[in-house]
Amino acid sequence: MDIFCKEVKPYEDLTMKQIQFWLRIMKEHSLFMKLGFSCDDTKLIEEAECFYNLFEDLQRLSQRICNEDDFRNFVCEVMVAVKRIFAFKRHVLHLLIECKIGGSNYPLLVDHISREALYFLKLLEKINDGDMKYPVDSIVSDNIFWLRIMGDHAKFIAGLLDPSERGFITQANDFTVKFEQLQLHARDLDSMLWHFRPNNDLVRFEGDVTEAVNQIRDFKEAARDLIQACKVVSLIPPLLADHVLREAEHFLEILEQIKEDLAATNNFNCGTNIITCDY
Ligand SMILES: [Fe+2]
Ligand SMILES: [Fe+2]
Repeated sequence: MDIFCKEVKPYEDLTMKQIQFWLRIMKEHSLFMKLGFSCDDTKLIEEAECFYNLFEDLQRLSQRICNEDDFRNFVCEVMVAVKRIFAFKRHVLHLLIECKIGGSNYPLLVDHISREALYFLKLLEKINDGDMKYPVDSIVSDNIFWLRIMGDHAKFIAGLLDPSERGFITQANDFTVKFEQLQLHARDLDSMLWHFRPNNDLVRFEGDVTEAVNQIRDFKEAARDLIQACKVVSLIPPLLADHVLREAEHFLEILEQIKEDLAATNNFNCGTNIITCDY
């Protein structure tokens, strides 16, 4: 199920480490948006700067939280901030798709970062709502979300590289195709396993996804290093290259958790294709 479906919640646990990861991501989104606005859109630039400062303050505050009550209050405070930045991103997206503003923010990029804000908001809401009822629905929904994110990253990289960088553009386009195929496969599994339980096909699929994410992680790391060393020409700021690399690494951590949970809860025998337990 898509992240916009009401019942979808992230698979990852709500911990301070995850909150700090996402606070930094939100802060950087504010900067990327600001850099992409036309210089005439001063109000939008100011709003983006306010969000940057807000998330930087929350990052600082997160380091001083030391008990459960403070954690709960902090989560509520972050929720308000994330709801606001989500609304801002959707507002900017609507201005872009009706051609009411210019600048260099791709509409799909703004949609993408709004999906990431919604995911973070739903992660925070787990403090009250808990997990999804069927773990398999949560696993597959998370795959759909992250596979789309990885596919988008490949598209953004291809679109922001200098046209002369043909080899890298081809590699990025190949990743787009790979991640779109995996996302379609995840959507098939979504309906096939809906309200059911994991099967061996899902376990194999998670292996394929992990392999592909490791490959795009390595590609992003190489791209980041080349951009930082000015050995490739592009419109990609080094911070954006590092940002998408961190998101791939975050997805890999979630995949590791899914792998462990599938092994622990379903007692799969990884050496065969046969389910070795009764459900
Ligand atoms: Fe992001
Ligand atoms: Fe992203």
